[in-house]
Amino acid sequence: MRGVIALTGATGFIGSAIARKLVKEGWRVRALIRAPLRRTRLEGVSIEWVHGTLENIEHLESLVSDAHAVVHCAGAVRGITDADFYDVNVEAVSRLAQIAALRSPAPRFLSISSLAAREPNLSAYAASKSGLIGLTEVLAAEYGPKNVRVNAILPGAVETAMYDEANGTAEEKSYITNLHALKRVGSPDELAQAALYLASDASSFQSGTAMLVDGGLSITRT
Ligand SMILES: NC(=O)c1ccc[n+]([C@@H]2O[C@H](COP(=O)([O-])OP(=O)(O)OC[C@H]3O[C@@H](n4cnc5c(N)ncnc54)[C@H](OP(=O)(O)O)[C@@H]3O)[C@@H](O)[C@H]2O)c1
Repeated sequence: MRGVIALTGATGFIGSAIARKLVKEGWRVRALIRAPLRRTRLEGVSIEWVHGTLENIEHLESLVSDAHAVVHCAGAVRGITDADFYDVNVEAVSRLAQIAALRSPAPRFLSISSLAAREPNLSAYAASKSGLIGLTEVLAAEYGPKNVRVNAILPGAVETAMYDEANGTAEEKSYITNLHALKRVGSPDELAQAALYLASDASSFQSGTAMLVDGGLSITRT
């Protein structure tokens, strides 16, 4: 076993792929869960569950405790107002990173932003994901001297329920697919591979970055 990685959002499409990948690579995964019935995507996968919420400091301390890395994949992906998104997508990052930085040795920290951060049409969601990028840079500068690396992943579209809901018709899917240089959207597994990289020593000199994993979406948009 390679140590513990603390994970939020493990019940979701991308989070469950990350959990599977980490377990497969020999990590122990400790995951925060707010509703036990939602574990179905991870049946048969060895996970240490911490029952709790992102608002409760004690729950977050139990989650983080001796972790080697913290991966915040929980995300509010549906809503209208800033308030619908801000707490999970930005505030929770700040809370988790502060708790992580108090540990010794402190775990590295990773969260999932979105290229939507560059997309004004998705305003409140996009604003929260943009705030997350700014926070990643600030936290990396603040905690760098304690040897804490803080990074984010900046994905393009990923084949998930969120993607299906946002692009209901074949025309919409074709439009989004064609925005990517690779002419396809990503898979949760491809995001998991990037998370594994940023959570591990393989990325030892990366901090304060929002790493593109976007199939070339960003180059077709500039
Ligand atoms: N799908 C895409 O195309 C895409 C693209 C770019 C970035 N992302 C980002 O990737 C991350 C995962 O996306 P996904 O598509 O896998 O979403 P998803 O399937 O809807 O999963 C969202 C996860 O976040 C958790 N969550 C949501 N609100 C929470 C809260 N208030 N407290 C605790 N947990 C909460 C959910 O837990 P429950 O099961 O308890 O609801 C679930 O585990 C998100 O941050 C999203 O913004 C997704």
